[in-house]
Amino acid sequence: MRIGILTSGGDCPGLNAVIRGVVLKGTTAYGLDFVGIRDGWRGVVDGDFFPLSRHDVKGLSKVGGTILGTSRTNPYEGPRGGAENIARTLEDAGIDGILAIGGEGTLAAADRLWKDGINVLGVPKTIDNDLRATDYSFGFDTAVNIATDAMDRLRTTGDSHQRCMVAEVMGRHVGWIALHAGVAAGAHVICIPEVPMSIDEICRQVTSAHDRGRAPLVVVSEGFTITGMDEAHSHKGLDAFNRPRLGGIGELIAPEIERITGIETRATVLGHIQRGGSPSAFDRVLATRLGLHAADALVDGAWGQMVAMRGTDIVRVQFDEALGELNTVPLYRYEEAAALFG
Ligand code: F6P
Repeated sequence: MRIGILTSGGDCPGLNAVIRGVVLKGTTAYGLDFVGIRDGWRGVVDGDFFPLSRHDVKGLSKVGGTILGTSRTNPYEGPRGGAENIARTLEDAGIDGILAIGGEGTLAAADRLWKDGINVLGVPKTIDNDLRATDYSFGFDTAVNIATDAMDRLRTTGDSHQRCMVAEVMGRHVGWIALHAGVAAGAHVICIPEVPMSIDEICRQVTSAHDRGRAPLVVVSEGFTITGMDEAHSHKGLDAFNRPRLGGIGELIAPEIERITGIETRATVLGHIQRGGSPSAFDRVLATRLGLHAADALVDGAWGQMVAMRGTDIVRVQFDEALGELNTVPLYRYEEAAALFG
């Protein structure tokens, strides 16, 4: 059986570890033949394939990014897109099925293609940890570690200048990165999309920390809304799946904090640094295990499903289970952290 592997959507530390895991087990245990698909669904649509052997994946578990390249291409768009064209392209290349490693947008496309007759198996990836069907996604732990390290650094410069530091982190419409990095770094306020907050409440916590002689640290998730805002701040247009590109809320609230509290305030947007570099040990192990279990699922012909983490086990779930609703931060987790605010 010949399998095409693709990585699609935003990249994520651990993608290469999945590729290594599935190719190692797939070739040695099951005699599968693999091809790499360049740049996500773009490579499927254009028939951009190359051989992927055991030799090509050596030493990859610690390497950031993706050796396959990625894009946010929608496989249903363009003259060569759509299930019928794609089925022909795969058949011409002798590819029996696709292993799609991606987040919400990728898995939604995978689900649609599978329902249209293409053999697709999924592996969830996202630094945002916003997929419902998996307890954790690889990439998240690395992003939290990077964000925590950045905030530790913001605290020392904030302390030196007695400034309020605002750190904006990624996460799209869920606040997992903000919550975990905020707790780890000892932030005085954590602003997440699930819990809108007024600017006055943020300032109350900032002032309380400042009055105790601390340099206030505010973590704000890119999808956070100040009470009264209709939707998350976006000034960068839409992506290929018509979703707004988020970011910039930190720069909006920092001057307001300074105006209301009188405390000099600076904002830092951590941005794509959170997705770069080597995966953490946790993410290497999780991604490798997902790859190994994906090899088993490929041999079983478990199309229309994805491998996922439940507790400490790797299980198989239908695409449908991962789609629709997001894995948001439950209120009790936010309230737990809120005891540390101010
Ligand atoms: O989904 C991962 C993510 O990093 C989000 O946290 C962020 O909003 C988005 O991707 C950024 O996308 P891009 O790389 O297209 O700017």
